[in-house]
Amino acid sequence: MKIQEVVDRILSYHPSIGDRLTCDSFKCGHPEDECTGIVTTCCCSVQVIREAIKLGANLIIVHEPVFYMHMDPTDWLENDPVYTEKRALLDDHRIAVFRDHDHIHSHRPDGIRYGVMKELGWEQYMVFDPQLVGTKSDIHVKLPKTTVRELALEIKEKMGLNGVRVIGNLDAEVEYVAFAGHITGDREQKATQLLMRDDVDVLIPAEVIDWTALNYARDAAMLGKNKAILNVGHINSEELGMKYAAKWIAELVEGQVPVTFVKSADLYSFV
Ligand SMILES: [Fe+2]
Ligand SMILES: [Fe+2]
Repeated sequence: MKIQEVVDRILSYHPSIGDRLTCDSFKCGHPEDECTGIVTTCCCSVQVIREAIKLGANLIIVHEPVFYMHMDPTDWLENDPVYTEKRALLDDHRIAVFRDHDHIHSHRPDGIRYGVMKELGWEQYMVFDPQLVGTKSDIHVKLPKTTVRELALEIKEKMGLNGVRVIGNLDAEVEYVAFAGHITGDREQKATQLLMRDDVDVLIPAEVIDWTALNYARDAAMLGKNKAILNVGHINSEELGMKYAAKWIAELVEGQVPVTFVKSADLYSFV
C-alpha cells in the first residue's frame, strides 16, 4: 500500500472539513513510496523519529506541528541547526510526515477527546452535555467520587506523565471532570464559567494562562470549594487521542501495514 493510499483512507474515515484552509497535509516525505510502517504520535519529536527509524516505519501521522508553527512553514528555519538536523533525520530515511489535526477534531464527539476517553477507560462515565456539544471541549464525565489527589495520580499514571501541576485542595472530593481545551484568548471567560457550574468540579485544560480560570480555581479552593484544575500540558492532554488513533488506523489499513503508537512523552520534567 502506498503512503498516499494510507492517508486517503484516513481522510475518507474523517468527516469532510469542506474547502477551508487546513494544516492537515504532508510536511515532508514521498507519498508515492510503498508504506513500510506507520507511527502515530501527538508530537513528532526527534525521539519519535528515531523510534520510527528503529521500527522501519516511513510514515508518521502526527497531530501537532512538526516545525514549531501552525502551518509548518520552514523558510524561517533554513539555517537553524535544530531544524536542519531534524529534517535530515527524516529525509535521510525517506520518512513522510502527515498532520491530522483539523480532520480528527472535526468528529463529534471530538476524535482526539473521544480517544482520550477510551484510553483513560472513562468512556462509560461520559455525560451528554448540550452546552458543550459542538465545542472542542465536548467531553464531560461523571466519575465515581474520588479526591483531587487520586484523580491526579490516575491521570499521571494513565498519561505516563512525570508529574501533574494541580490547582486546588488535594483532599477535596470531586466527581465531575470537563476537558476544557485551550484556556486562552476568547475562551478564557468560557473556561472560568465552565468551572463555575455545579456539575463541573475539575477542569483538564490544554494551553493555559495563569491569571483567569486557574486563579479562579485557586481562590475557590481557598474558600473551601471543591474546585480544581489538573494542568497536564497541551500535548500531554491530547497524546492518548493519537494512541487510540493507532487502533482505528490499523483497521483502515486492514493489517497490510504495521501501525505503532509512539509516545512523544511528557514535555516536562520536574525537579
Ligand atoms: Fe493540540
Ligand atoms: Fe488538538
